[in-house]
Amino acid sequence: MTEKGPDDGPFRVTVRPAGTTFEADAGRTLLASALLAGVEGLPNSCRNGTCRACLQPLHRGEVAYRIPWPGLLPEERTGGWVLPCVAFPRSDIELGG
Ligand code: FES
Repeated sequence: MTEKGPDDGPFRVTVRPAGTTFEADAGRTLLASALLAGVEGLPNSCRNGTCRACLQPLHRGEVAYRIPWPGLLPEERTGGWVLPCVAFPRSDIELGG
C-alpha cells in the first residue's frame, strides 16, 4: 500500500470570479477534479491540451504537465496561463476570472 504524502494533495482549487472551490489530487487534472466535484462553468472541449478552450489565468499555485508542450505559447506558459484539462496541481491553486 502506498501512502499519500503532502505533495499528493488534495489541494484546494479556487475559481474566480465566483470563488467556487473544490479539492484536487495531484494525480488528476484540474478539469477532471472540477467535473468530479460537480463544478460547472469551466469551459472545455478537447480535454487533451490542444484546443485551448479551457485556457485560464493562473493567479496562485503551481501545476505540472505530463505532455511535453501543451497548447500554450511560451509567453503564456511563463506568463501565468494554464490549461486545466492537462494541468495537474502541485499546490493550492487559484485560477480564472
Ligand atoms: S479543453 Fe482543449 S485545451 Fe483544454
